[in-house]
Amino acid sequence: MKYKRILLKLSGEALMGDKNFGIDNSRLLQYANEIKSISELGVQIAIVVGGGNIFRGVQAEQGGMERTQGDYMGMLATMVNSMALQASLESVGMETRLQSAIEMKEIAEPFIRRKAVRHLEKNRIVIFGAGSGNPYFTTDSAASLRAIEVDADVILKGTRVDGIYTADPEKDPSAQKYDKLTFDEAYSKGLSIMDMTAFTLCKENNLPIIVFDMNTPGNLMKVIHGTEEGTLVEA
Ligand code: GTP
Repeated sequence: MKYKRILLKLSGEALMGDKNFGIDNSRLLQYANEIKSISELGVQIAIVVGGGNIFRGVQAEQGGMERTQGDYMGMLATMVNSMALQASLESVGMETRLQSAIEMKEIAEPFIRRKAVRHLEKNRIVIFGAGSGNPYFTTDSAASLRAIEVDADVILKGTRVDGIYTADPEKDPSAQKYDKLTFDEAYSKGLSIMDMTAFTLCKENNLPIIVFDMNTPGNLMKVIHGTEEGTLVEA
């Protein structure tokens, strides 16, 4: 396999499956099984989940709520998703540890980098909840930060689109997919892969990003083996 330690970023919306809100248990179980299959190969797995299926801080601000309040609510939403994912992974026999960036010690370990790394070395799946613990940062930024902190080989951004396109493929049928891009190309073409904070963290720390379709069974396994799947962004 090409990657030994990965950080998998899952979007909150993806957990909704075909529902309009909340968590679709069958989607969750599908993800758990995909993750299990690569864990059994010995891949060390850290995960960050978004919270958009439950709450979005940015939209709350548009509704008149103070941004920081909305962002903290979004962080709690990521904890709900993280706990659901943890339960699902445990239901398929995986060992997991959940660490939270905001202290809530009754339900999760606090984020301790050295402990997270030890868990990974013991092949426990480590889920990082509550984003980075700070308002004004997205879960993509939290994922980039944690990936760098635990020295992951790559950040895998699981989406419902199978990579980065010249235009939005859901709107423009002539859009073409990129197999590979450099950080500079992605930046100069104005392609939105992650928000700028997240993107810059990856670029400055030489952390490759793969954007791929997480909903098609077997794709995660292909990515781990280095089969050309999705779009690879690297230096
Ligand atoms: P090692 O023994 O170091 O390999 O790791 P471990 O995670 O098994 O040890 P630890 O005794 O720290 O954890 C045992 C269990 O308690 C695990 O399920 C942890 O996730 C959990 N745990 C550890 N610290 C906390 C905490 O502060 N809050 C909560 N809720 N659970 C914790």
